[in-house]
Amino acid sequence: MSRIRLGVNIDHVATVRNARGEIYPKPIRAALLAQKMGADSITVHLREDRRHINDKDLKEIKSKLKIPLNLEIAATREMLQIALKRKPKFICIVPEKRQEITTEGGLNLNYKKNFLNKMIKKLKKNKSRVSLFIEPSVRDIKLSKFLNADCVEIHTGKLCNLINKNKEYKKEILKIKQAVDLGISLGLEVHAGHGLTFKSAKILSKVRGIKEFNIGHFLIGESIFNGIGNTIKKFKKSIK
Ligand code: PXP
Repeated sequence: MSRIRLGVNIDHVATVRNARGEIYPKPIRAALLAQKMGADSITVHLREDRRHINDKDLKEIKSKLKIPLNLEIAATREMLQIALKRKPKFICIVPEKRQEITTEGGLNLNYKKNFLNKMIKKLKKNKSRVSLFIEPSVRDIKLSKFLNADCVEIHTGKLCNLINKNKEYKKEILKIKQAVDLGISLGLEVHAGHGLTFKSAKILSKVRGIKEFNIGHFLIGESIFNGIGNTIKKFKKSIK
C-alpha cells in the first residue's frame, strides 16, 4: 500500500501576518520550510476577501516552490481566471461564504453545476489536477464523477469534532469508508481534510485508499510549540 501524502496548508501563517498588517511571518518562508521538512505539497486558499493568502503570496509561492502547489478556490469567474493564469499543479474547488470562519462543509454540487462543469474542463485542459471538496455522501461522489473531477477531498470536519469531543464516531467513519470505496471504484483519487489533528489523522489513516491529507490549522498551531519540521514529521508518522 502506498503511503498517504501530506499536504501542508499554510493559510494561517498569513492569518498571523495579516492580524497586524505586517510583512511577517512570511507564508513563502513557511512554504519553503515545509517543503524542506517533508511536506508532499503546499496548500493555500485564495479567498474572495483575501483574509489570509493574497495574490502576491500566490505568485511568489508558485514561482519558488518545487513540490506541487495545491490552490483552493471557490467556483467563481475571478478564481477561475487566476487559476488559469497561475497554473498550479493541483486545484481544489471549495465552497465559500464570506461570513464563515472556515470552510464549513462540502460543495453543493447541484448549485452552479453548469459552471462547475465548464470550470473543471478548462482547468484540466490547463494541466491542473482538479479536486472537489465534498461531504462523504454517495450522491456527491457520483456527482463528482459525473462532473469529471480527477479527485475528491472528503470534508472531515464532522469526524474531527466527534473525536475531539470524545464522542462516538463509528457511524461517521463508516460513512467516510463507504464514500472512499465508491470514489475509488469510480476511478476518483480520494483525499481528506479539515480539522485534522494527530489523533484524528491517525484514526482516519486506517481507512484504506485515502491518498492525501490536507492539514492546516492544527499543524500551524502545533508548530508554535514544536516547530514546523517536528510537526510535519510527527504527522507523517501518524498517517503512515
Ligand atoms: N482541505 C480543504 C479543502 C480546506 O478548505 C481546508 C481548510 O478549511 C483544509 C483542508 C484544512 O483544514 P484545517 O485548516 O482545519 O486543517
